[in-house]
Amino acid sequence: MSKADLAKKPAEVAAMFDDVAATYDRTNSLLSFGQDRTWRNAVRETVAPTAGQKILDLAAGTGASSAAFLADGVKVVAGDFSEGMLAVGRKRHPNIEFVFADATKLPFADNEFDTVTISFGLRNVVDVKKALSEMHRVTKPGGQLVICEFSKVSNRFLRPFYNFYLGRLLPALSSIASKTPEAYSYLSESIMAWPNQQELGLQIAKAGYESVQFQNLTCGIVAIHRARKKATK
Ligand SMILES: C[S@@+](CC[C@H](N)C(=O)[O-])C[C@H]1O[C@@H](n2cnc3c(N)ncnc32)[C@H](O)[C@@H]1O
Repeated sequence: MSKADLAKKPAEVAAMFDDVAATYDRTNSLLSFGQDRTWRNAVRETVAPTAGQKILDLAAGTGASSAAFLADGVKVVAGDFSEGMLAVGRKRHPNIEFVFADATKLPFADNEFDTVTISFGLRNVVDVKKALSEMHRVTKPGGQLVICEFSKVSNRFLRPFYNFYLGRLLPALSSIASKTPEAYSYLSESIMAWPNQQELGLQIAKAGYESVQFQNLTCGIVAIHRARKKATK
């Protein structure tokens, strides 16, 4: 098992996800105590898929995030750079188009998607700035960006409990629930090192997006950021 440390290299990140692909969805539900479903519903509400829209779900993994956007007349493209995750996704969701795609070098034309979204993926991307710039490039003018990611707990009474969960409980639980617990100690470390809601908002604005907003879920354990690409006149 390869554990990508925080000075991760893209190939190590992809290999780590190849290793966890088969059990990824089930372990996620277990470790989030079923909250993942609530978070995905909230992302779906923010994206608001409507007929005629083309949606890119980036770092889509096994497609659990992408499946939430399926609706009549909506085209969902799921992109990821872990062949292992893509293989599981293709079997699990035959109605979604899975594409090998590195977030830092997207194989799509400029202005191609009405919505570009990424759930629990941006934190794993080695060059976040490059990925945001690529996401901006492929978003249509007037289109939206929706990012769902672990964030910083807003309630100071809850914070020590959550830090205990991340630092101690999650690694212990994952050694029982998963055959690859190293991947989940990486999960804790990467969440702790990730920027807070405001800092991520600034990075999104620097990539060229406008009207950046965020919404906290489960007291800020997760945040959804939404922004628009400037419409052409
Ligand atoms: C935690 S999983 C999230 C999967 C899915 N979006 C979900 O919500 O369940 C993170 C995914 O990010 C992908 N990833 C990390 N860096 C990437 C990159 N540079 N380009 C494309 N995918 C990347 C990994 O391969 C992995 O499948």
